[in-house]
Amino acid sequence: MPSVLRFLLPVLLMSVVAATCAAAASSAAPPASMEAFIFGLPKAELHVHLEGTMEPELFLTIAARNKIKTPYATAADVRQRLLDAKDLPSFIVIYEELIGALRTEQDFHDVALGYFRKARSQGVVYVEMFFDPQLHLERGVKLKTLYAGLERARRDAREQLGLEAHYILCFLRDRPAESAAKVLEQSRPWLAQIIGVGLDNPEVENFPAKFQAVFARAKELGLHRTSHCDVGQPNTVEHHWGVIELLDVERIDHGLNVLDDPELIEIVQDKRIGLTAAPTLFYRDIPGRMEYRAGAIRKMLDIELLVSVNSDDPGMKRSLYVGDLMLRVQQTTNMSRDQVVQLAKNSFLIAWITPEERSRYLASIDAYVNGASTTD
Ligand code: HPA
Ligand code: ZN
Repeated sequence: MPSVLRFLLPVLLMSVVAATCAAAASSAAPPASMEAFIFGLPKAELHVHLEGTMEPELFLTIAARNKIKTPYATAADVRQRLLDAKDLPSFIVIYEELIGALRTEQDFHDVALGYFRKARSQGVVYVEMFFDPQLHLERGVKLKTLYAGLERARRDAREQLGLEAHYILCFLRDRPAESAAKVLEQSRPWLAQIIGVGLDNPEVENFPAKFQAVFARAKELGLHRTSHCDVGQPNTVEHHWGVIELLDVERIDHGLNVLDDPELIEIVQDKRIGLTAAPTLFYRDIPGRMEYRAGAIRKMLDIELLVSVNSDDPGMKRSLYVGDLMLRVQQTTNMSRDQVVQLAKNSFLIAWITPEERSRYLASIDAYVNGASTTD
């Protein structure tokens, strides 16, 4: 294909997709059922792990084509194994095990694009996705392979789905800080593909101090910063303070325990720190988990914290994507439509986008909510 066409075609396609979406959003009244309303609402996903989006079926497909022997004959067997996940450490053991299937550029592409498709079908139009390069380097995968797969998936999402995506390089909290610093420097050839840095994997004691230098370096490189503070972990309040004061984060992933300390609430409000809550469910039933998480999200909305709803690891938890989760949160807490809309608006208010992009996304929500009555 001539190079002018190669450049122009995606742009044209993107404009058609965007125009179609805008037309769909503004030419009709919003649907009457809460489920349809939530699924059609434009929203951003800001807390989702590339690796954790891999559904059991895709895991088996990838393992088979890479000729990797697994103990699982069927997707149901993989889901049976995922029943062993009952908290963060037990989940991460299985997460790291299943990631072992990923080897090629095509693998990373297929996992990311599979997620983008699913997310788009539930109204997600913008994604900032985590990935864990250390987990792949440790297994002998080259960064070049990983970044090439991610970039191609991002382009395909834009061209085929009208979905805009960026990537967040996550450092592993349970590995040495030197390893984080090294992977950041090794990633510099692909810096334009990375929008920010984060911290995930098990929450080790005092982790904010451990990563202070590498976060300062990331800031120097012009990268945004976020960190997981998982729900109900030991020393959670100290960890929340640590990521704010030592790592200068703009968002906290999960962050529900902000509610445990009135002074934390105040600083998170003052600094307009985003909280990317994830009211996900493991395959194993954990009584009260949704009620607690949805209740905390509702409380956060009530005090005007910038909280959003996110899917975290949908492929390895109960295949619940952002639309599914917003609906469950709404039903669990009997949220009003206005509150659901606020959750969607928050997702763009705390996204790492330009003021123009923010205005455009927020306007698309208003157009969707007001339907024909205000846009015709
Ligand atoms: N917390 C920490 N690490 C993770 C998570 C999470 O929710 N998901 C994947 N890695
Ligand atoms: Zn997470």
